[in-house]
Amino acid sequence: MMLTALSHIQCTNVYTIPSIFPDTPPLLSSPSSSFLSLEPSSHRLSLHVYNNDRLRITHKSNVCGLKLSCSLKEPPLKVMISGAPASGKGTQCELIVKKFGLVHISTGDLLRAEVSSGTEIGNKAKEFMNAGKLVPDEIVTAMVTSRLSREDAKQNGWLLDGYPRSFSQAQSLQSLKIIPDVYIVLDVPDEILIDRCVGRRLDPVTKKIYHVKNFPPETEEIKARLTTRPDDTEEKVKARLEIYKTNADAILSTYSNIMKRIDGNHPKEVIFGEIDSILSQVLNDKEKKRKLGSSLSQSSSIQDNWRGIPTKLNNIPHSRDIRNYFYDDVLQATKRSINDGGIRLKVEINIPELNPEMDVYRIGTLMELVRTLALSFADDGKSVKVCVQGSMGEGALAGMPLQLAGTRQILEYMDWGEYGAMGTFIKIGAIGAKHVDDTDDLFILVAPQNAVGNCIIEDLQAMTDAAGDRPVILINPRLKDLPASSGIMQTMGRDKRLKYAATFENCYFFRLLYYAGTQYPIMGALRMSYPYRYELYKRMNDPSGKEKYVIISTYPKKPTIDEVNDAFEGKPRNENKKAQGFWGFLSGILQN
Ligand code: AP5
Repeated sequence: MMLTALSHIQCTNVYTIPSIFPDTPPLLSSPSSSFLSLEPSSHRLSLHVYNNDRLRITHKSNVCGLKLSCSLKEPPLKVMISGAPASGKGTQCELIVKKFGLVHISTGDLLRAEVSSGTEIGNKAKEFMNAGKLVPDEIVTAMVTSRLSREDAKQNGWLLDGYPRSFSQAQSLQSLKIIPDVYIVLDVPDEILIDRCVGRRLDPVTKKIYHVKNFPPETEEIKARLTTRPDDTEEKVKARLEIYKTNADAILSTYSNIMKRIDGNHPKEVIFGEIDSILSQVLNDKEKKRKLGSSLSQSSSIQDNWRGIPTKLNNIPHSRDIRNYFYDDVLQATKRSINDGGIRLKVEINIPELNPEMDVYRIGTLMELVRTLALSFADDGKSVKVCVQGSMGEGALAGMPLQLAGTRQILEYMDWGEYGAMGTFIKIGAIGAKHVDDTDDLFILVAPQNAVGNCIIEDLQAMTDAAGDRPVILINPRLKDLPASSGIMQTMGRDKRLKYAATFENCYFFRLLYYAGTQYPIMGALRMSYPYRYELYKRMNDPSGKEKYVIISTYPKKPTIDEVNDAFEGKPRNENKKAQGFWGFLSGILQN
């Protein structure tokens, strides 16, 4: 049994510890199975969380000692599903509830129930609903928050359908700290939405959703009792669709970091297959976090509390805040990857100051990034070797890539802190097997790159062979195969070189996307910070006019140019087509 976290709690108040389910709580009161409360006491309690899911609380009083064990259970799923009218939210909700047992809260259904019961709320809402307009926020928000606070939703998790529908509704939930684990968006082309709405029929007995063509009722008896929603005429659907489109982006900006976009123009079973795997993944991640205990929950909270992409990236030079933001972002991703056993890692970060193809490239920014990583690993007690590739070629042809000229000297003259890390915990070396010492724990390689006629890969491979299972981190490598007229580069087979270069996995990726080449204005960005997905951002203005990066899609692997093009054009995923048109320029940017 391994102790992973220990904290002391002075029990002068009632403390609530989320994510803990007591199964034998003789001296604890539990308001719900997802919480554990410690009753007020003047004594001191120690709380020990163990890897094997047991929690031990030891009373430190001299008078009486008590020990008790509680099993930990993951907190329930909290899911939001969104999409245009008739995108299939209700249909998917039926399937989600069946599999995951969540409490389905549909604002449309709640409102329709109020209308048919003739309540005051229903009478107020009816007029708006029948016109295809949004019902005023104060009515809907009160309804949703009161439903969410009920015990079944707390215990089994919830599936919120049709809320929030505006920026202010999203803000209301945020202010109440009601935050979902995942925000699913169903994408369906407009013309299909209209057909779906007009053909929709509802069974008032089973509440099942049918469609005259797509999902006809099973029996004549059911068919005879089906009803049509008053807001399902073509004209009203168009009005609802307009309202949806007007609000969609503003809502997305609130949930950009947890959004999963799904092509809703497939058979319902296919769509559910995708939702099922997303929700299963979210559950797995929750479980993994819980098992890894405090260390991972700390690192994941970094992503949860992630502030989003900094704005004003058009302003050059970047401010210190922006630089520090990126240094920290890279550091956290690299640490998480190493903690998970990563040893061949690659950081690719292409903000303007780190993009050698731009006039504003600053070698100092690259060196600062390297220093941040090296000092932080040194603080953790690791011996870090910072390596800059030496001269390549022979005689008059000897030299190094322009980007690295003078780098080693700059590193040596930099301020490495007052406590003398340089020379003790941090050493400077070059690339190759002979630069690997037994005392080195970790290697940071500064922008290793092939030059025409000179291939760094053989030296790199010799170095990684010598490093064995010690982490080697490449910062902004350029290991693309370059043509060489002299043939010097061909000392190692091309396939082998490419295969070797591919053994390094991205633990961090950031690239700004432009409308053309690297010319301003910025169109968006692609970011990946281990262990999270690739996130595609669009740069836009929020309702207050401020610049902001909004997530428009996420991907488990680096997206293809087609996928990026489709996301920017608002097209559903998985369309097989060649890169072309307005966004075709991305071709050259994302293939490296
Ligand atoms: P609400 O009931 O939420 O309506 P909606 O968002 O417009 O969505 P729908 O219920 O029309 O469609 P759906 O996506 O659930 O699709 P379904 O699965 O049924 O809201 C109604 C009104 O209430 C609003 O207009 C507003 O006035 C008010 N309101 C609600 N929430 C509010 C809020 N937060 N704030 C203010 N006002 C609010 O599928 C549609 C059809 O397609 C069915 O016939 C189905 O069988 C078929 N279908 C589904 N999936 C597929 C598939 N994969 N392939 C083929 N056909 C499919």
